[in-house]
Amino acid sequence: MDKYFLTTAIDYVNGKPHIGHAYEKILTDIIARHYSLRCDDVYFLTGTDEHGIKIQKTAQAQGITPQELCDMNNAEFKKAWKALDVDYTKLIRTTDKYHEEVVQRIFKKLVDNGDIYKHEYEGLYCSGCECFLNPKDLTEDGLCPEHLKKPEVVKEMNYFFKLTKYKDAIIKHIKEHPDFIVPDFRANEVLRQLEEIQDISVSRSKESVQWGVDVLDDPEQVIYVWIDALSNYITAIGYDVDHQDEKFKKYWPADVHVIGKDILKFHSIYWIAILMALDLPLPKHIFAHGWITIDEAKMSKSLGNVISPTGVMESFGLEQPDAFRYYMATAAAIGRDGNYSDEDFKEKVNAHLANSMGNLLNRTLSMLVKYFDGEIKPEFTVNPEIMKHASNTIDFVNTHFDNFEIAEAAQEIMVLVDTVNKYVTDNAPWTLAKEEKMTECGSVLRTVLEAMCTVSSLIYPYCPNIAKEMARQLKYDLTTKLGNIKDQKFIQNGILISKEDIKPVFLRVDSEFADKSQKIKV
Ligand code: ME8
Ligand code: MG
Repeated sequence: MDKYFLTTAIDYVNGKPHIGHAYEKILTDIIARHYSLRCDDVYFLTGTDEHGIKIQKTAQAQGITPQELCDMNNAEFKKAWKALDVDYTKLIRTTDKYHEEVVQRIFKKLVDNGDIYKHEYEGLYCSGCECFLNPKDLTEDGLCPEHLKKPEVVKEMNYFFKLTKYKDAIIKHIKEHPDFIVPDFRANEVLRQLEEIQDISVSRSKESVQWGVDVLDDPEQVIYVWIDALSNYITAIGYDVDHQDEKFKKYWPADVHVIGKDILKFHSIYWIAILMALDLPLPKHIFAHGWITIDEAKMSKSLGNVISPTGVMESFGLEQPDAFRYYMATAAAIGRDGNYSDEDFKEKVNAHLANSMGNLLNRTLSMLVKYFDGEIKPEFTVNPEIMKHASNTIDFVNTHFDNFEIAEAAQEIMVLVDTVNKYVTDNAPWTLAKEEKMTECGSVLRTVLEAMCTVSSLIYPYCPNIAKEMARQLKYDLTTKLGNIKDQKFIQNGILISKEDIKPVFLRVDSEFADKSQKIKV
């Protein structure tokens, strides 16, 4: 594997980042960090989607310009990703000048090639979805099923993209590449949607929308959201219609687009057709994650339960995002919906990160200091079964990541931790010490510490700060590639640690923080 290029959806900046946005960026960051342990060149692209009627209207309501609104909220997204240790390579904004210009040229190329044509149209437009709806998809009351709002009747001259021309090729591609849409149960959904696909409107008149990219040579039309938004994946790395940067040649096609299930159609149908029309290679995978609910309820402004990710950290007094990242990453099986609740958060991170994983390292190092003054002696040997389990876990985790099973991979890591805990209980090094079986006692400790090196590497993508602290105490190099861990011994003979250097890698979340208001601020 010589490069790994992954992307997130670009978030609308008509509001501040919420826990659903955070879920996706955390998942993607975890995938990026995992692959950084397998390959030298990982490029992680994220961004903000800054055009469209929603942003125009929100700005208007707040009495500021759309650009001011975008700048303000773009800064909020960046702040949130920093606090969550979402370590992207680049964050593109669709209002970036180079992006707007390339989008105009992409549009023109599609017009010149006959993939885009002008057409008088009347339809039902939902500004929440930023697209026209099919009348048969509305609720009984004629509302958008997603936003429960009445769509507007819009009649105007628009540009249309010939989606129908690519229908058969897309169906063929999906059928021939069973791992193209992940998880696979979503592929059937897309195939069903493809059956009734129609050409799509890709522009709006200036009268109805002003905040967008103008069509070149036709300033009465504004390029409408999806061609603008989806193109970010290629403009960000230097694509242009008649010239492509080295960066583009190196990174495209994307290894994976990570997106939410609600925008799968746009990615697996619209985007794929656009790429086919531009004669570009297709992304290897599209990974559609599920939806995050709050206390089992859909997040919505009207319910007042829209939670900010940094709000969760503040309300629990957490300085580092590791626990929140871990919780989010394990909130749902692949592609399924997940739920956030304060109680469950506290319980889970305390059980997994503090009790199982943190304590294991802490008490093992404490015993090493107590019985051996922190010294690993040459006669301490490792238990081959535990080493085998650790090395198998690396394989399991790699396979899970290749399938985007982030929660499942974490579970595998916790199985290893539990196995090592059981090994300690079964072998009771404190009893061995009492019986003065010092070599046996030291061998148990060495085995645990060796396994914890593997655990720190595997948990690093989820909990980078905890992993770094574990590695510091183990004198272990966290940049070790996963392929180099197997069968290698990392715990050296000699003094490993002194009493003062031992500290818990994760403190239990105990606070009964009552102040929910801190969290609801999106
Ligand atoms: O759709 N749980 O932007 P967006 C999980 N700009 N994921 C959620 C979520 C929730 N409760 N709420 C939102 C857009 N998301 C477009 C994308 S891509 C070229 C353009 C996810 O701000 C959602 O599924 O509405 C999407 O992947 C991302 O957050 C941005 O959503
Ligand atoms: Mg949305």
